[in-house]
Amino acid sequence: MSSQEISEEGLPAEQDTAHGAVKVADDPFADPGLPAHKPRIQDIDERAAKRSERTVALMFTLSMLATIGFIASYVIFPVDKIVFIWPIGHVSALHFSLGLTLGLALFLIGAGAVHWARTLMSDVEVADDRHPIEAPPEVKAKVLADFADGARESAIGRRKLIRNTMFGALALVPLSGVVLLRDLGPLPEKKLRTTLWAKGKQLVNMNTMEPLRPEDVVVGSLTFAMPEGLKEDAHDFQTQIAKAALMIVRIEPDDIKDKQSREWGHEGIVAFSKICTHVGCPISLYEQQTHHVLCPCHQSTFDLSDGARVIFGPAGHPLPQLRIGVNSEGNLEALDDFAEPVGPAFWERG
Ligand code: FES
Repeated sequence: MSSQEISEEGLPAEQDTAHGAVKVADDPFADPGLPAHKPRIQDIDERAAKRSERTVALMFTLSMLATIGFIASYVIFPVDKIVFIWPIGHVSALHFSLGLTLGLALFLIGAGAVHWARTLMSDVEVADDRHPIEAPPEVKAKVLADFADGARESAIGRRKLIRNTMFGALALVPLSGVVLLRDLGPLPEKKLRTTLWAKGKQLVNMNTMEPLRPEDVVVGSLTFAMPEGLKEDAHDFQTQIAKAALMIVRIEPDDIKDKQSREWGHEGIVAFSKICTHVGCPISLYEQQTHHVLCPCHQSTFDLSDGARVIFGPAGHPLPQLRIGVNSEGNLEALDDFAEPVGPAFWERG
């Protein structure tokens, strides 16, 4: 059913009494060619609407449970717990459960909102002309009025179950981020302050995987070493080697300027952390004439003949040195752990 009217431009217009939309008869944009509107089952059957309402509320409720699961995972699973998940393989239980629960919490909020919009919110179809991008004051006022209409049509005030569960889901999701802030606080263990090095641990050549002997290290060479017992297929290999990796060089003892550095070595063989004290890149460029090592990331340069002092670049402090000696089998061994934390300059700000 429709009735004739005159539009603002003076063109004949039609009023669609079923949906309240006004069409301008000669305006090519008035009818965008949409198929005839069909009411949804939820528009004509209150029981179907109730079912949709319960479905939306269920999704928001499951989102809340997933967020609680996220927090519980963070508390329950230790960082190094590995589990087998088919078909992915071996993964960190903590990372897997955090990703799964947070993903579910966000997905269910989105899915609930989409289902709500598609089944329960207003289904009126409207056509509108394009307008200039600039929004005059009356348009802003109309937007606010439309927003108020939308809020009324979504029935957020009437459907309290949806409203309350949605607010609950939205309120709980940020808690996931709050829990992660724990990592900014004091660490429960001295994990970053200690490495695998300890008195009696032999230095193993990272290329040959054989214990290093003093005669293996010649003047001018650069050797990389790791602690004995650390296996490359260990689940925490990367974590451990990132702290324990060593650079070994031999310098004529008289050329070593720093007295403590000379005493912490063995016949001119000195062992320094391979981890740059700027932001932790592995150092690998050695200039044998000057005994300088260069970090490839931001060009910090350290003088290994002078206690790995920083002579150029953004690094904040020297590379930590490991005290070494020779054991009864003639192999190089550590005499202690590093005396200071290895890696970036975080420690100087503590
Ligand atoms: S990480 Fe080495 S200089 Fe930046």
